[in-house]
Amino acid sequence: EPIHRLADLIRRSRYLVAFTGAGASTESGLPDFRSSQGLWRRVPQRMASIEFMERHFDEFVAFYRQRITALDGVQPSRVHRILAKWEEAGLLKAVITQNVDGLHQLPGSRQVIPLHGDLRTCRCQRCGRIYPSEAFLADPYCACGGRLRPNVVLFGEPLPADAWARARSEAARCDLMLAVGSSLEVYPAASLPEMVARRSATGEAALVIINRDPTPLDAWARMVTREAAGDVLERVDRQLSPAGSR
Ligand code: OAD
Repeated sequence: EPIHRLADLIRRSRYLVAFTGAGASTESGLPDFRSSQGLWRRVPQRMASIEFMERHFDEFVAFYRQRITALDGVQPSRVHRILAKWEEAGLLKAVITQNVDGLHQLPGSRQVIPLHGDLRTCRCQRCGRIYPSEAFLADPYCACGGRLRPNVVLFGEPLPADAWARARSEAARCDLMLAVGSSLEVYPAASLPEMVARRSATGEAALVIINRDPTPLDAWARMVTREAAGDVLERVDRQLSPAGSR
């Protein structure tokens, strides 16, 4: 039974790291990008590019204003809550996330490595000053006259160097990585589970993929499950914490 096997892998791991994508937040009501209900099925992905921001600033602002206001009142999912609980219990060492919704931090995850930035803040493209995203909703210009933009990584931009360095070192150090709710198609982020898959050839690490749709790394994973991530983690959590200690 996959749930037993996964609970076993987690119990026996010495350094467990999670790698999450938009599928960690769909249960919270936020759409993912590439599944049949995904955002990039409705709007072109280039709206999230640096080039689009530079050429069509007004449309870019309208698009990101919607994405920012969509976060209003959104609650963490079972995935966010259980990963936070596992970190608190010392079972999980870090969460590397591609998500910009801030939902891992809400239920208490502390070792969160945001590879793609943070939609809850914005920054000036000219002077670099950081504001809460409310500033971007009210008036997308900085006190210096520069354009404000969400504090996220746009297509065509490099990842933040500090987050990238930390994430690479966690991926190199872990002996078990759970990839949760990600198509594992976007690079360089996907090179982290790929690195773990490569290390699994020598038996020093294993990759587990929890994702509804197939991913390009499925063939290299120790285990793949296509069940809803919240269900999987909830059932594994029950195996890990015997009744009474929950
Ligand atoms: P994707 O939309 O590419 O992948 C999300 C995956 O989660 C899909 O394969 C779904 O099948 C799966 N999924 C959705 N809900 C699920 C659930 N409840 N249980 C299990 N699986 C579920 O999203 P990401 O991989 O996060 O980047 O995309 C990576 C990056 O591409 C994003 O960070 C963003 C995007 O464009 C930038 O904007 C730079």
